[in-house]
Amino acid sequence: MLLKIENLTKRFEGLVAVNEVTFQVNEGDIFAIIGPNGAGKTTLFNLISGMLRPTSGQIYLQDEDITGLKPYKIAQKGIARTFQTTALFDQLRVADNLAIGYKLRTTSGFWSTIFRTRRWKEDKEKCTAKVMETLSFIGLAEKAFNFVSTLSQEEQKRLAIGVALVSDPKIILLDEPTGGLIQEDTDGITNLIKKIKAAGITVCIIEHKMRMIMDLADRIVVLNYGEKIAEGTPEEVSKDEAVIKAYLGGEYIA
Ligand SMILES: Nc1ncnc2c1ncn2[C@@H]1O[C@H](COP(=O)(O)OP(=O)(O)OP(=O)(O)O)[C@@H](O)[C@H]1O
Ligand SMILES: [Mg+2]
Repeated sequence: MLLKIENLTKRFEGLVAVNEVTFQVNEGDIFAIIGPNGAGKTTLFNLISGMLRPTSGQIYLQDEDITGLKPYKIAQKGIARTFQTTALFDQLRVADNLAIGYKLRTTSGFWSTIFRTRRWKEDKEKCTAKVMETLSFIGLAEKAFNFVSTLSQEEQKRLAIGVALVSDPKIILLDEPTGGLIQEDTDGITNLIKKIKAAGITVCIIEHKMRMIMDLADRIVVLNYGEKIAEGTPEEVSKDEAVIKAYLGGEYIA
């Protein structure tokens, strides 16, 4: 078990966005979170990554209670995330975006940067090496010095995943990594996610594209109006009456 969510609740004024949700993510798995619009999926990621504080409930990473920690602390502990709308610096180059992602999560502080200490120099070399490694992992080595604005949508999605990967996370939270892409453009992302799993990084993914989820996920949890209505393997979930009623409708997904 890598990540454990226990009775997690988030209330906004007059609305329970996440309601007493409990589940566990096993190390090495691709764990999917699905559910209709407004079900509370992104809110759940905001809680796990520390961007929102839960109203009640607990979040554990490898048995350590990380509930309510600041986002940068949670990132340092090994939880990285992407955003539903891609959050890249599109006036900068591809490699710069990765370097910024790396710097934001490394330890060499303000003073060591100002005085260019040995620690700073070592960090800089590590940063360059990690950026290069990540570039080739996400298949964008040739575009390292291109401006982000010149990349295709699909390449930008891969870069956003790279920005999360560059900090060597234990677990990566992907919020609709193929959002806005047409089905034909999703293969590259699907393959990248398989590669992330093969590299030993646990993946937690929110996604609406059912075919993709059925192909990728080891386990799925289904949310509806903030509540967990089902959990299981893709096969179990796709046959679940409550899920079919709330989410899948008549859609054939086997
Ligand atoms: N900061 C906030 N303040 C108030 N209400 C919020 C806030 N964030 C989310 N909500 C509400 O909480 C509910 C869950 O939203 P959330 O964004 O988590 O849904 P989602 O499952 O990610 O949906 P989608 O599939 O459309 O991305 C929605 O009703 C939303 O309007
Ligand atoms: Mg969302």
